[in-house]
Amino acid sequence: MTPYNNILLETIDAVARITLNRPAQLNALNDELMDELSYALTACDANPSIAAIIITGSDKAFAAGADIKAMANLDFETAYLNNFITRNWDTISNVRKPVIAAVAGFALGGGCELALACDTIVAADNAQFGQPEIKLGVIPGAGGTQRLTRAIGKAKAMDMILTGRMMDAAEAERSGLVSRVVPLAELAGTALKMANIIAGYGRLSTMMAKEAVNLTQEASLSSGLQFERRAFHSLFATADQKEGMAAFIEKRKATFKKP
Ligand code: HXC
Repeated sequence: MTPYNNILLETIDAVARITLNRPAQLNALNDELMDELSYALTACDANPSIAAIIITGSDKAFAAGADIKAMANLDFETAYLNNFITRNWDTISNVRKPVIAAVAGFALGGGCELALACDTIVAADNAQFGQPEIKLGVIPGAGGTQRLTRAIGKAKAMDMILTGRMMDAAEAERSGLVSRVVPLAELAGTALKMANIIAGYGRLSTMMAKEAVNLTQEASLSSGLQFERRAFHSLFATADQKEGMAAFIEKRKATFKKP
């Protein structure tokens, strides 16, 4: 792996953990950080010994948004021509292995959008989510208006995006933005446990499950159901299906194949 300046990449068994690491700026996102994140995610996705990925930040901030100091003087032409800050974002959602966002502290603007681009969000009890771009004279630019609305519904998304207010962890859980909230001290362990559980299942089934669930964000119900049915049937061609079902019948723990 190449050395990174803005992130840390660790491998814990079959789990890769990427930690955003610009603490002095509360992990504010700039092009260099996003390039590194994109490179690391692509490498983890291609590495057969990695089965699940965690993206996390510090106890104080997952990420406080795009780096305001880096974009304060940006003009339209440069932003457009360089596809400023958003040029790598599709890489995140194109990762085929499950990606968990483990969020403590602030997840604001691009930070909230980064968490939303992951497959699920686990939050610490001090997490604060928000799309405060309106206060800066702009709007969310990396999925906030689209993914947040799909995640929590139009009324709440409009409330957050138009007022710029923050949503705490309890409200985020109530609203369906996060899958679970845990005490801050338990966040890293919970995310790792969750990633390890996923990593212990069959690789084909976890990847196809992710693909099928994510299709709900893009496709019609009938297309999504069609895809799900084909993926479900195709899994009967795998050794993991034979092992998983045999293990149930034989009352033992399944051992899924390592690619
Ligand atoms: C650059 C940032 C930053 C940001 C914090 N910092 N957020 N620098 N860009 N987004 C820096 C501060 O300038 C400060 O550095 C240091 O981090 C600590 O921040 P404080 O403000 O002193 O901390 P605190 O009082 O605890 O307040 C935390 C905060 C506040 C509520 C998160 O920092 C804040 O409101 N930040 C901006 C949040 C925001 O508007 N995000 C959206 C950005 S637009 P110095 O050196 O000054 O002490 C966006 C568009 C996305 O994300 C587009 C697509 C990706």
